[in-house]
Amino acid sequence: MKKKLLGAVLSVAMVATLLAGCGGSADTGAAPAAPAAPAAPAAEAPAEEAAPAEEKADDAAPAAEAPAGGMKVGVAMPTKDLQRWNQDGSNMEKELKDAGYEVDLQYASNDVQTQVSQIENMINNGCGVLVIAAIEGDSLGTVLASAKEKNIPVIAYDRLIMNTDAVSYYATFDNYMVGTKQGEYIKDQIKLDSEAGPFNLEVTTGDPGDNNARYFYQGAIDVLQPYIDEGKLVVKSGQLDFDKVATASWSSENAQSRAENIVSSDYSDGSNIDAWLCSNDSTAQGVVAALDANYNGEWPIITGQDCDVVSVQNMIAGKQSMSIFKDTRTLASQVVKMVGQILKGETVDVNDTETYDNGTGVIPSYLCEPVFADINNYKELLIDSGYYTEADLQ
Ligand code: BGC
Repeated sequence: MKKKLLGAVLSVAMVATLLAGCGGSADTGAAPAAPAAPAAPAAEAPAEEAAPAEEKADDAAPAAEAPAGGMKVGVAMPTKDLQRWNQDGSNMEKELKDAGYEVDLQYASNDVQTQVSQIENMINNGCGVLVIAAIEGDSLGTVLASAKEKNIPVIAYDRLIMNTDAVSYYATFDNYMVGTKQGEYIKDQIKLDSEAGPFNLEVTTGDPGDNNARYFYQGAIDVLQPYIDEGKLVVKSGQLDFDKVATASWSSENAQSRAENIVSSDYSDGSNIDAWLCSNDSTAQGVVAALDANYNGEWPIITGQDCDVVSVQNMIAGKQSMSIFKDTRTLASQVVKMVGQILKGETVDVNDTETYDNGTGVIPSYLCEPVFADINNYKELLIDSGYYTEADLQ
């Protein structure tokens, strides 16, 4: 797994990325840094210090062969249940149409078979490129073999598609860095380096079939594990292994019921939970609901990811402490650009050719850089940037 230390420049680079957008900086040939070890919270660096990201594009992948199909692009999204996928889909649809392509956008209600048939239809209906956010990374091998037979390039969107050589490119936010930032946030907020503790921690991560979930988990655990080892962080439930803390389908209900069990088994004696690492907003919302109903201690630091409206509202209400902001406009624009490059037979911009091996080899990737939002910077990140209006968050 890629880990490059950028030290002090990192928080500055994150602001630079935010200002430039991940697609924007690639225009100049310099990709945003894709390191996996943040040093300090992103938003603390004032904008005027922003400097170009330190790292140059690692490589540009070879130009794809011009695809056999026409100028129709198939976009397969996992579910409409989560706000972010609606935004991803509609941003891409709009930008692709603006660029003159036909778009076949499908949502699969988190059902693998539905997604497979949607992709089959896209292949049979003449799509020239497929953009796929997989429900289950391991379940698309057969259908994508037929895409490959027809010389249809595939871009894995946000989530890597595993164990198939039909994937040409991967575009995502740096998933390991998402986890690192969540772990760092907990470390900073409960002052693990200066307070004696011990502090209680619980952990909730995502769907085991989503390759991202392991990266989020590992990024955070790599930050927190030393404190667990020295006894400063205690996981009273004893549940720390990935399989124990995973949440099927990233569902809020599943996260809530597990959190309720933990609260009643391990915290009914009045002890505090100091931090609850949640890998994303849907799981954080489940944990918040469980704590609201059953927990009487001091409110813990709770992490999240996506800056869903409900989670930002929870942040304003003091119930969720932070959320990783992955600007879906940025990722969608980058992918639209890659689609255009593929369809024109141009060199496709990538900035990472070492991190994401899908079991058949490393997939040339474009990694965008995530930042965190909390009560102190959400206005600047989310409202000033036009992502939400004040009214959206009421
Ligand atoms: C995405 C997250 C999202 C989660 C649940 C992950 O693959 O990267 O942004 O919260 O899936 O849909």
